[in-house]
Amino acid sequence: MIELVGLKKFFGEVKAVDGLSFEIHRGEVFGLLGKNGAGKTTTIKMLTLQLKPTAGEIFFAGRPIVGNELFVKSLLGLVPQHLNFDQDLTVEENLELHARLYHLPQPARLARIDELLKFVELEKVRRSFVRELSGGMKRRLLIVRSLIHKPQILFLDEPTVALDPQVRRKIWELIRNLKAQGITIVLTTHYIEEAEALCDRVAILDGGKLAALDSTEKLCAGHSLEETFIALTSRF
Ligand SMILES: Nc1ncnc2c1ncn2[C@@H]1O[C@H](COP(=O)(O)OP(=O)(O)O)[C@@H](O)[C@H]1O
Ligand SMILES: [Mg+2]
Repeated sequence: MIELVGLKKFFGEVKAVDGLSFEIHRGEVFGLLGKNGAGKTTTIKMLTLQLKPTAGEIFFAGRPIVGNELFVKSLLGLVPQHLNFDQDLTVEENLELHARLYHLPQPARLARIDELLKFVELEKVRRSFVRELSGGMKRRLLIVRSLIHKPQILFLDEPTVALDPQVRRKIWELIRNLKAQGITIVLTTHYIEEAEALCDRVAILDGGKLAALDSTEKLCAGHSLEETFIALTSRF
């Protein structure tokens, strides 16, 4: 579904991503696991057309992203690491705005917003300002916003960071639900148990390089994923 070939991104001296080559399969939940600064967000940004690689190539469904930007954009949804909605708009206004960006016509737009708010149980707050929502509600809104145009591939960058355990479990349930709908999911996390709970396969990044890539079961075989992670990533 997605292929990375020798992907690199340097910021001056900093080799944020330093030669990644692997494939992400259709329908799987693929985890990018690594400590802060490992290069997860930079990788996601290149895969979602927000950053130009220093070197290397990316293919979506066999097509290079260069020259196929609109096709790639129509395929993907993005849940960024940091909340980036207009907090002075209401929940439904935010979704409306996003739907317009994707040129969703009325009445499909309204129907889709209704459906999504129901999916993440936010119907009751649809007319509340985003700034009034709890952290967990904001996260759920961020996720459904990315689904407005029915993407086939969803990227989630640290979807549960700083959430309490109950809310984290809700988000996990939501991600499993999306997988069951056939959506390919790429998520980054620095929580090992999150990768273990959700992912079919995990790539461990360290200093912008691939330290390991395998099924979650194989990475856990004989020892915990946490032990593997600690053994494969540098200490500082
Ligand atoms: N825009 C940027 N300019 C300079 N350095 C950056 C920039 N973005 C990321 N970096 C650096 O690249 C490395 C990888 O960062 P990032 O991809 O955000 O890691 P992660 O998401 O795994 O925490 C870090 O050393 C970070 O400081
Ligand atoms: Mg990050």
